[in-house]
Amino acid sequence: MSQQQAKILIFDSGVGGLSVYKEIETKLPQLDYLYIFDNAAYPYGELDHQTLIVRVDALVTSLVEMHQIDLVVIACNTASTVVLPTLRAKLAIPVVGVVPAIKPASNLANKAVGLIATPATITRPYTHDLIRDFSQSKPVELLGSTRLVDMAEEKLRGNPVDLDELKQILAPIYRHVDVAVLGCTHFPLIKPEIQQVLSSNVLLVDSGEAIARRVADLLKESVAAQIKREGTKEILSTAPPWDEGALNIALRQLGFSPVQHFPLEI
Ligand code: DGL
Repeated sequence: MSQQQAKILIFDSGVGGLSVYKEIETKLPQLDYLYIFDNAAYPYGELDHQTLIVRVDALVTSLVEMHQIDLVVIACNTASTVVLPTLRAKLAIPVVGVVPAIKPASNLANKAVGLIATPATITRPYTHDLIRDFSQSKPVELLGSTRLVDMAEEKLRGNPVDLDELKQILAPIYRHVDVAVLGCTHFPLIKPEIQQVLSSNVLLVDSGEAIARRVADLLKESVAAQIKREGTKEILSTAPPWDEGALNIALRQLGFSPVQHFPLEI
């Protein structure tokens, strides 16, 4: 982009999209970032898909208009598997989605792939199409868990992950797979703990880096060349953020000012 820097809207149900933000911001620190999380309806992995489409559509389309956004990242696998066609039909700007990295995982696996995602993502036709198209030769074991999503939310609020509990949750894929897909954007936030439980024999794959490359491509931003400024970073939540002191500490480290309230009226 020329004079004015592009502004990106990043969307998730909670703090998971921050794992994607980190990848994009590392590549493109000069851009302006607006992050919105729909925690009034969290967890998305337990919502029916029509509710999800209505909420994401309402939030994203209003913010794009209010803030003159240049590109949207739906940094949520659960939402991306259903809302992308609706958003793309409505918006004139690029909408980048995040879907489970089944294809690279299958290429890397010798034995089997584990897909760790939300309960909704593992049942979505979109996910099953990905498996059919890109992992014909390697079996894919599905593990859907909302508790894992909660653990990432809690970690960002200063509560460490309980490794025994994590071990129990991951037991169904333990020793069965050699590559595991982190198919929810919350999970890279607890990647060290997942790696510790599954052991270093299991390769963990997520989509964050690929999304950052896609964003840079779409905005035609060359990575280091344009860095003349630090972009602005704002964060909004749909539930009142009155009790988010601990989260604000983590957010400050990522460059954000404290969470502000953006209620959804449908
Ligand atoms: N971060 C989300 C995802 O990538 C959703 C987590 C949730 O709200 O259940 O799927």
